[in-house]
Amino acid sequence: MANFKLGFIGAGFIANFQAKAVAQIRGVDIAGVYSLKGAEEFVANVKALDVGDCTIYNSIDELCRNVDAVAIFAPNYVRIDIMKEIVDSVKGGAALKGIICEKPLGRTVAEARTLVNLAKEANIPTAYFENQIHMKGIRAQMEQLAPVQAQMGPLGLSRSSEEHCGPHEPWFWNPIQQGGGVLSDMGCHSIAVGWFVLTPQGKPITFLQPVAVSAVTSLLKWGVPKYRQELLDRTGVDYSKTPAEDFATGIVTFKNPETGQLVQAQFTNSWMYDKQGLRLLMDGLGAGYAFELNTQRSSLEVFTGDQAAESVADSETALEKSTASRGLLTVETNEPDLYGYVDEIKDAVASFKAGRDAFLNFEYGFEITRLCQAAYMSAERGTTIDLTDPKIIEELESYVSLIAQGKGADLLYGKK
Ligand SMILES: NC(=O)c1ccc[n+]([C@@H]2O[C@H](COP(=O)([O-])OP(=O)(O)OC[C@H]3O[C@@H](n4cnc5c(N)ncnc54)[C@H](O)[C@@H]3O)[C@@H](O)[C@H]2O)c1
Repeated sequence: MANFKLGFIGAGFIANFQAKAVAQIRGVDIAGVYSLKGAEEFVANVKALDVGDCTIYNSIDELCRNVDAVAIFAPNYVRIDIMKEIVDSVKGGAALKGIICEKPLGRTVAEARTLVNLAKEANIPTAYFENQIHMKGIRAQMEQLAPVQAQMGPLGLSRSSEEHCGPHEPWFWNPIQQGGGVLSDMGCHSIAVGWFVLTPQGKPITFLQPVAVSAVTSLLKWGVPKYRQELLDRTGVDYSKTPAEDFATGIVTFKNPETGQLVQAQFTNSWMYDKQGLRLLMDGLGAGYAFELNTQRSSLEVFTGDQAAESVADSETALEKSTASRGLLTVETNEPDLYGYVDEIKDAVASFKAGRDAFLNFEYGFEITRLCQAAYMSAERGTTIDLTDPKIIEELESYVSLIAQGKGADLLYGKK
């Protein structure tokens, strides 16, 4: 049987990371790419990884006509335009079996809803890429603890965090282009994985009903004049005028519709985590049992002293977003697999081949966007957001956070 042909839209950080994931899957080729920049380097990477004969296309329509599924790996602010072009291409005859979209599905609830509706219009299966739910460590603890959970009941508390020293590209820092700061960028991961691990095993992914969200958004490092200037020089984004939060934390409360039990997912995200590099830390507490996962605990560490450090080339080969090239470094030897990218692509391809949505579809991505936006609303208003109130749900449909409007200065500098 011919290999499944994936087409990538965007050829930046995540496209190159996902290419490394595809290299670990049988029967899948990266057959094409369309990107404003970086396509040539991407094709060279695909060639080096031996994951297909990747053609550079000059339009989304051309790409869609030559692959089995397309993946939107472009920035948040171009999601809707790209999706519209995909839908037009399908209406014009492109025989796509699936559409993948990276997190977040939208910068606002309204955008996420538009994405869901456009996919329905095209009548094509979808995959919302939330890699952390596919992490082997997350799945393994669930398998291991299934009999314990059957005896003792589901988890009551989950705590999830994703933290690093800040994004690589300027558009992530621009709250208008990105849709906010670290809560929009990484809160979506932590809220999703928190919800997932709390869900009683065997129940659907949205079985637990979100009933309340409370959150705080702060600017703890990149608003300090010295670092604000550094950011301005590096990215062109001026946090004295249009800041975004570099720290967010909060709690989502869920209700089990069968038992009425309330459980909570606490999330913490920051762009000011100046330790070794990216850290995902999750734990879950049940009655008499628990799990904990920390991606910075590797069986491999290397040490580089000051003198030897002069010759170090690139510390990012050790760990994503590494901040140091000397001292004790954690080394993760297979990050695409560790973070769940391999299994999310496997799931999407298998689902599309079977003519159905992936485990996580656009409707699920919509739910996550709504929870993130409710968290912004909570931080802005200084109150807990009641998700059982139809008026709040209605308000969220057109809500754009002050931070995403570029008006977050008063909130983040404590003038409000
Ligand atoms: N799951 C994860 O852990 C994870 C990690 C990083 C990024 N992401 C998501 O992936 C998406 C891309 O992020 P990234 O880090 O790769 O960004 P990036 O800036 O590194 O790369 C974006 C790519 O898209 C291209 N592009 C820009 N506008 C385009 C357009 N209109 N049409 C086609 N191509 C266009 C750029 O030229 C670039 O090649 C974002 O939505 C981000 O949230 C997810």
